[in-house]
Amino acid sequence: MHQDDKKTQVAECALEFIETRQVLGVGSGSTVNIFIGMLDKIRTKIEACVSSSNASTKLLKENNFKVVDLKEIGKIPIYVDGADEANKSLQLIKGGGGALTREKIISNNSEKFICIIDDSKMVSQLGKFPLPIEVIPMAQSAVALEMIKLGGRPVLRENFTTDNGNIILDVHNLKINEPIELEQKINNLAGVVTNGLFAIKPANKLLVADGNSVKEM
Ligand code: A5P
Repeated sequence: MHQDDKKTQVAECALEFIETRQVLGVGSGSTVNIFIGMLDKIRTKIEACVSSSNASTKLLKENNFKVVDLKEIGKIPIYVDGADEANKSLQLIKGGGGALTREKIISNNSEKFICIIDDSKMVSQLGKFPLPIEVIPMAQSAVALEMIKLGGRPVLRENFTTDNGNIILDVHNLKINEPIELEQKINNLAGVVTNGLFAIKPANKLLVADGNSVKEM
């Protein structure tokens, strides 16, 4: 089965988890774009959406969903988003689309984070996908040097500015043996806004499409 068909399969499955009329947290990326395209099926259950990126906001509005700011809502009951890698502990690497900071803010303020992926994203150890780090521009070299000290190879994402006006360093070759410790360590560096490890607060549920069925973890 083609990867896009798996994304469709897992997006459809996520619809079942939205039970009562509620505010829905919506992530970013190609899997979520498919999910947004399906939300019309459960329109009556969606009071409003909190969006993790300008791109998702635009798509939600084009589909006639009300988008509200997280600060007006506080905690949200459910957040649906994709990931670039996931392990069996439901820890993730996110940020391939550059929306990692808003995604982490929404995840941290959601009662339930449902992550939707196809089976190509499942790994035994995180880190084959380069770890995205959102950095305040003036700290680019300083943070890059720290990443080299950690054994990584930081690469500036060319011609890219985040929705928050910052840069992204994609760090290759990191050995992520202790995801929680590494997430904390990188976030403690001056100039780092956030990094794409979602290990301190992993997903609550992982839906994985393999072409035949959707596995729930
Ligand atoms: C966006 O910044 C990311 O965190 C996405 O959730 C992640 O890159 C998954 O995207 P795809 O669904 O396009 O693979």
